[in-house]
Amino acid sequence: MLRWPHPKKRLRPEETTLSRSKKAVFEDVHIFLVERKMGRSRRSFLTQLARSKGFVVEDVLSDAVTHVVSEDSEASSLWAWLKGHSPSDPSKMHVLDISWFTDSMKERRPVAVETKHLIQDVLPEVSTPPSVVAVSQYACQRRTTTENHNKTLTDAFEVLAENYEFNEMEGQCLAFRRAASVLKSLSWQVRSSHQVHDLPCLGETMEELVEEILQYGRSFEVAKILSDERFQTLKGFTSVFGVGLKTAEKWYRRGLRTFPDVMAEPSIRLNRMQQSGFLHYGDISRHVSKAEALALGNIIDEAVHAIAPNGILTLTGGFRRGKEFGHDVDFIVTTPERGQEEGLLTNIIKHLKHQGILLFCDFQPSSFDLSKLPSHRFEAMDHFAKCFLILKLEGHQVEGGLCRAEGDSRDWRAVRVDLVSPPLDRFAFTLLGWTGSRQFERDLRRFARLERRMLLDNHALFDKTKNEFLAATSEKDIFAHLGLEYIEPWQRNA
Ligand code: UTP
Ligand code: MN
Repeated sequence: MLRWPHPKKRLRPEETTLSRSKKAVFEDVHIFLVERKMGRSRRSFLTQLARSKGFVVEDVLSDAVTHVVSEDSEASSLWAWLKGHSPSDPSKMHVLDISWFTDSMKERRPVAVETKHLIQDVLPEVSTPPSVVAVSQYACQRRTTTENHNKTLTDAFEVLAENYEFNEMEGQCLAFRRAASVLKSLSWQVRSSHQVHDLPCLGETMEELVEEILQYGRSFEVAKILSDERFQTLKGFTSVFGVGLKTAEKWYRRGLRTFPDVMAEPSIRLNRMQQSGFLHYGDISRHVSKAEALALGNIIDEAVHAIAPNGILTLTGGFRRGKEFGHDVDFIVTTPERGQEEGLLTNIIKHLKHQGILLFCDFQPSSFDLSKLPSHRFEAMDHFAKCFLILKLEGHQVEGGLCRAEGDSRDWRAVRVDLVSPPLDRFAFTLLGWTGSRQFERDLRRFARLERRMLLDNHALFDKTKNEFLAATSEKDIFAHLGLEYIEPWQRNA
């Protein structure tokens, strides 16, 4: 008769019926004893002992084995042997030290497997980052999600980059932007400056900067910049819609430091965009949520379809890359009817105005000339019809409500929206260009130019070797022309 130490545990029918036999009582458990280290005679003794108590012991390591028992205390050599001798994946079996076996013999039943019994496979050391050599210097050959494991470092690098930009040191600015982008692509957290040694785009001074931040939690130089009056002022002024670096500098040189300073200066004539920028500053300097972006998508989609039933609206920019928040919402609108895309855009604007939600509109007509293609001008700014808008978004239109400042009781907020309207046959290039990120775009163009002798912009892709334009109806076509692996939008957060 079998004795169970836990009488509460109910026996399964097969266990009760088999309990009279000393043979194969515990059919679910198939033991294999590893002879290495144990020795042949001890193995044979333990085998007989176990079988006499109703255990199943296999002579060979087969698929039937569920519990491997070893006296080999060195896990790595045991696992290496198992991997070489097991017909299937040995990690699917319990690999146990002899204590599980002796406990089971004492209890006269297979005891539950506990952590203390396990001989675990030695995994490669976790602190070693995955192959650093595999990181490309081009953002378009890296997959960068919105998950940034090195935010402290990239924030610091971006402050330095911005400061270089404010001082018109473009080379240095770009170098720090590139380095920040490499760090953003890492799937692991940098814990020592040695780990960045083999990364592309990070030189010796950057390695020292990483070391300083890892050691002290901050960089002296970055802290100095952040508290610098000029940096703070330029950062504040350029955060206003319509105020570029040139204007911000002009105001700074005149001794202006704050928004009230600018407002009170009689010689300053703000343009329409800047006036709206200041007027709606509180709203449009606050981030836009994904729910707000979706609500705007619905509003604009309705406008598109009220005007052109076969119009196509596509979300692009940061929200297409899966970002939770953005500074604006970017859309592409187009229509299959050739030459009608600009008219579509002006009609959408009229529709929004009629609805009373158009707070600001800067419409830029198309300067893109189909008849002049192939054009050899490849520029950063595209020539499609576009508009930079400020729209009024109401709380009831947004699932979960608006992103509002504390104490703000209004039931609406102002949001920045960009619409661009390319002809349908340029759609793939526009989508790729407007999806961003900026760094991803820069590196796509740089890669095309330097590695493929091709010119890429928001309008077209030109092969300088073949002296011809390459057609594309999807982003995948463009990646394929460039000989690049396709990178999903959510992997372009470089
Ligand atoms: P954004 O400035 O909107 O950036 O430009 P973003 O990535 O969406 O991020 P946030 O959340 O709004 O701050 C989106 C993309 O559109 C391109 C930019 O280069 C960027 O990659 N773009 C923008 C153009 O190609 N042409 C333009 O005239 C404007
Ligand atoms: Mn955007």
